[in-house]
Amino acid sequence: MQDIDTLREDLLARIAAAADSAALEQIRVAALGKKGAISELMRGLGQMSPEERKSAGPALNGLKDDVDSAIRAAREALEDALLDARLVSERIDVTLPVLPEARGSIHPVSQVIDEVTEIFAQMGFTVAEGPDIEEDFYNFTALNIPPEHPARQMHDTFYLPERPDGTRRVLRTHTSPVQIRTMLNTKPPLRIIAPGRTFRCDSDQTHTPMFHQIEALVIDESTHMGHLKGCIEAFCRAFFEVDEVKMRFRPSYFPFTEPSAEVDIGCRRDGGELRIGEGDDWLEIMGCGMVHPKVLEHCGVDPAKYQGFAFGMGIDRIAMLKYGAPDLRAFFDSDLRWLRHYGFSSLNVPTLGQGVSR
Ligand code: PHE
Repeated sequence: MQDIDTLREDLLARIAAAADSAALEQIRVAALGKKGAISELMRGLGQMSPEERKSAGPALNGLKDDVDSAIRAAREALEDALLDARLVSERIDVTLPVLPEARGSIHPVSQVIDEVTEIFAQMGFTVAEGPDIEEDFYNFTALNIPPEHPARQMHDTFYLPERPDGTRRVLRTHTSPVQIRTMLNTKPPLRIIAPGRTFRCDSDQTHTPMFHQIEALVIDESTHMGHLKGCIEAFCRAFFEVDEVKMRFRPSYFPFTEPSAEVDIGCRRDGGELRIGEGDDWLEIMGCGMVHPKVLEHCGVDPAKYQGFAFGMGIDRIAMLKYGAPDLRAFFDSDLRWLRHYGFSSLNVPTLGQGVSR
C-alpha cells in the first residue's frame, strides 16, 4: 500500500507540473500504457493470495481512476489556457467602422457615358450598340470608304488575320459602323446615340490604342444642318453645365458626311484650371456632318426622301476636359490612387434636374 500512495503522489505531482499536452501524454503512457507502472502493478494481482488481492485490487483501481481523471482535468485546463491566449491575440473590435478602402467607385468614362446618355435621352434619342470586332464593310465600305481609299490609312487600323475568302475583320476604328447597322435594321425616322469602345494603333498623352466614342445619328425627312448645330449646342450647355458655350464649326472632310465639320469649343486656361465655354483658346471635341447620300443608299434609305446628320465625339476627351485629368493614358492604368481621386460615387446617378454631374 505504501507503494501505491508514493506512486500516486509522484504521478499527481508530475501531472500538475506538465507544461503541455505532449508532456501529459508521456506521463499517461508511463502510468497507464501497456507497459506503464500502474498496468504492471495490475498484472501483479494475479500472483497474489485472494486475501491480498481483496485490498490491493480496489486500491489499484482507485489509483488508476485518480491518475486518469487528473490527466483529463489537466488536459482540459491546458486547452482552455491555449484558447484564452488565442482569443486575446486575435481580438477583433467589431465596433470599429468598416475600412473606407473597401469602397469602389465609378470610372469617369462610365460616368460621362451615363451623363451623355441622360442628356440625349431627354432629347428623344435611344441607345444603339454594335460589336467591337467589326466587319470591314460596316467600318469602311458602307461608310463610303472603298478598299483603296486613303482614309483607311488615316485610321491606323488594327486588322484581324485574313480569312480564307481574303476578307479581314477589324477592331472598329470609330462608332460610325453603328450608323450602318441601325439604318439596315430600323426604318427612319431615327434618333440614336451609340457609345462604345474604339481602337486605333496610336499612343501618347492624348491618344490610347483603346478609347471611347459616342456616335449620334438623326434621320428624318426635313432634318438639316441647323438641327445639327442646335442639338450639339444644347448638348454642350447641359454637359459642361454652363449657360452659354462659345463654339465654332470648322469645315472638314469625312467620306461619310457632306458637308462635314469639326466642332471646337472655346476655353481659357485660368492658372492651372481649364474653363470651358469662354476665352480665346479652342478645343476640338467632335466630327460631324450631314449623312452622305451614298451612305443612305448603301443602307437602303432613299436619299431623295430622307436626310439627316451624324456626329462622333471622343468620350475620354470630354471627360478629361470636364474633370481636369491631364493624361489620357492614366484613364486605363487601373491605378487605385487615380481611381479614388477621379472616381464617382456609385449612388451619384446623373439626372438633368440637378445638373448631370451632381
Ligand atoms: N467617325 C468620325 C471619326 O471617328 C467622326 C464622325 C462621326 C464624323 C460622324 C462625322 C460624322 O473621326
